[in-house]
Amino acid sequence: MKLVIIANRLPVKIERENGSFIVKRSEGGLATGLGSLNIETEMHWVGWPGIFVDDPKEKKEITKKLKEMKYHPVFLTEKQIHDYYEGYSNSTIWPLCHYFFSYIQYKTEYWETYKEVNKLFCEIAVPFIRNDDVVWVQDYQLMLLPKKIRDKKPKVNIGYFHHIPFPSYELFRVLPEREEVLEGLLGADLIGFHTHDYMRHFISAIYRVLDLNCNLDEVTLENRIAHVDAFPMGINYEKYHEAPTLPAVKTFSEKLRKDLGTTENVVLSVDRLDYSKGIIHRLNGFANFIENHPEYRNKVSLVMVVVPSRDTVDRYADLKSQIDQLIGNINGQYSSLGWTPIYYFYQSFSFNELIAIYDMAEIALVSPLRDGMNLVAKEYVATKREKTGVLILSEMAGAAIELQDAIIINPNDVQEIENAILQALTMSEEEKRRRLDKLQKRVSTQTVKKWANDFVEELLYIRKQNKEIFHKTVDKLQLKKIKKQYDESENRLILLDYDGTLSPFMKNPDDAAPSKELKDLLKDMISDEKNEIVINSGRNRQKLDEWFEDIEVDFAAEHGAFFKENGVWHENIKEKIEWDEEILNILEHTIDKTPRSHLEVKDLSLVWHYRNVDVWLAELREKQLINALMGPCSRLNLQIVPGNKIVEIKPPNFNKGSEIQRLMKKKNYDFILAIGDDTTDEDMFHALPENGISIKVGSFSPVANYRIPVQSSVIPFFQKLIK
Ligand code: UDP
Ligand code: G6P
Repeated sequence: MKLVIIANRLPVKIERENGSFIVKRSEGGLATGLGSLNIETEMHWVGWPGIFVDDPKEKKEITKKLKEMKYHPVFLTEKQIHDYYEGYSNSTIWPLCHYFFSYIQYKTEYWETYKEVNKLFCEIAVPFIRNDDVVWVQDYQLMLLPKKIRDKKPKVNIGYFHHIPFPSYELFRVLPEREEVLEGLLGADLIGFHTHDYMRHFISAIYRVLDLNCNLDEVTLENRIAHVDAFPMGINYEKYHEAPTLPAVKTFSEKLRKDLGTTENVVLSVDRLDYSKGIIHRLNGFANFIENHPEYRNKVSLVMVVVPSRDTVDRYADLKSQIDQLIGNINGQYSSLGWTPIYYFYQSFSFNELIAIYDMAEIALVSPLRDGMNLVAKEYVATKREKTGVLILSEMAGAAIELQDAIIINPNDVQEIENAILQALTMSEEEKRRRLDKLQKRVSTQTVKKWANDFVEELLYIRKQNKEIFHKTVDKLQLKKIKKQYDESENRLILLDYDGTLSPFMKNPDDAAPSKELKDLLKDMISDEKNEIVINSGRNRQKLDEWFEDIEVDFAAEHGAFFKENGVWHENIKEKIEWDEEILNILEHTIDKTPRSHLEVKDLSLVWHYRNVDVWLAELREKQLINALMGPCSRLNLQIVPGNKIVEIKPPNFNKGSEIQRLMKKKNYDFILAIGDDTTDEDMFHALPENGISIKVGSFSPVANYRIPVQSSVIPFFQKLIK
């Protein structure tokens, strides 16, 4: 097995120098984070090498150079970088995911090129991906790639990590290609986010856009289950914590201190040039602070590091001018001889230099308006040793969920930024140490190594589970096996669930009448004397009689409360239920508050149906209903059974399994098969003898021996079985 990481950028950059090519470390949180990975497996990277080359000979030379490091370059043209990277990735998706709605730029050619480049990544990666490899796709530039790889390599284990926020459905829905993007992501077995909020938004988009069934963190697909989870990314703690002791760092720290003139306290700000980082708000907050607290002038300076990034995108270039101008104004207004309010660096620093800056700063002001995680906050915390420091952190950064012992601020509130700086400057040493200890405990535990290992371990676990699903799926081979048992048997019992198994679900349950194809199949099955066919349904007697009046099939109705044999109905429960007033009131109240839901009254049960209700509302009302029913139902000895978009209230003494038990007492069958899609059908599976055959339709059931992924395959399966 090897680990194949596919990201927009390789963790190195190729540059031309004196007529040849040199390999350089590249910037960015992701590259920095994965750079300190330590997994015991061969690791390959696929990504853009950061250089434009047309000449095939030069491409070959670069490819050869990179291959030695197990890096595989994807060469992109200037037009592709313009439309895919600057365009769709950074002018459409980035502002969308960071809630900068008015910044979203949309052009069809951006989308076309995004698709084209995702395909290109797939073409480069697929030739060296083996079935037992683990493929890990990184970030929003490659959202279509998991599906593209899946199409070519159906069995390979694919993970995807989204390093930026995933927006609420209300924002995500504006994207014209919302379906394709989600389908692209669902090509992965595991889709990871930094926080559970992003994960929640993603699942809600899956429900609403694709109308797929999600069970908590699992999305059921035809041949596998895709999992969604939160994995907060961390840093290489030890590396950052030890770094200030390096002699080179110490020398640089001392020099920096001298250069700072009268400044006693440094407030640090480090980001890539990005409007999502809240740099303008931060500058305004700092300017207000020095305006309103003159006692700190000459003593406190802001050291602002802005790392050049995406400056070919208009919004970034504009931001750069705004920052330059604002810093110029603030420094012009407040500087004095020997004191500069803001030291501004528009450049990238080396690791040692950055550590020296972290080490020197009394305060780190990390105030993004939105940020997937923010590693700078964690790096600052890790670097602190004897000299404490205070972290001021935006509540809009993913890191804020873990780093609650920072001073948490709303980055849009300039006044709060000003107050937080004052709070940090006046904080007692004891309080600083107490907070820092807690922050360091978290950052040293949730490291980048743990992040990567947790992700890969879960991916490997899912691989095992999906293999099981794959093996249980009824294909030609499995059919042959079941058919052999069928053909060799003399006394067969076949139990068929109705809705979701023999017939597809309809918006209106009364529209789910049996098709001609189904009736013909049943007639054929019944005509074989060796077969005893029972439709084991939750439906009431009247409906089943009405729908199958022309077929002499046996039934178990209302989950086994009634059964029909040789054309005669029997009751398993004699007494008639008088529904309790309190239960009826609860149901009525639920229906009033849940448009498009309704009540079905059967002879021995009540069913609340919510198939056509918005998922979020349905989930809420289902929980509320079950809570409210718990008291009266336990008092009256009634069972609450949640099913496929229903909640049923019924007496506990029968279920779909009781019908099997009853029939098995009657006769010795040498072939028993039960098929169903719902949780209530699992009662049948449990009641089967050891050699019984259980088939789950749709989602995966660990109890069933086999699985038919979609309802539409059920009739063809039986047609082939009895042929
Ligand atoms: N960084 C760097 N050189 C610099 C400034 C920052 O390499 O001069 C690194 C920093 O150490 C951090 C990363 O850039 O690891 C920024 O990651 P973060 O998650 O904070 O933001 P992103 O750039 O991913 O949006
Ligand atoms: C963020 C993104 C990464 C990206 C990095 C640097 O962290 O999530 O995918 O690599 O910023 O951005 P850049 O556009 O320079 O690659």
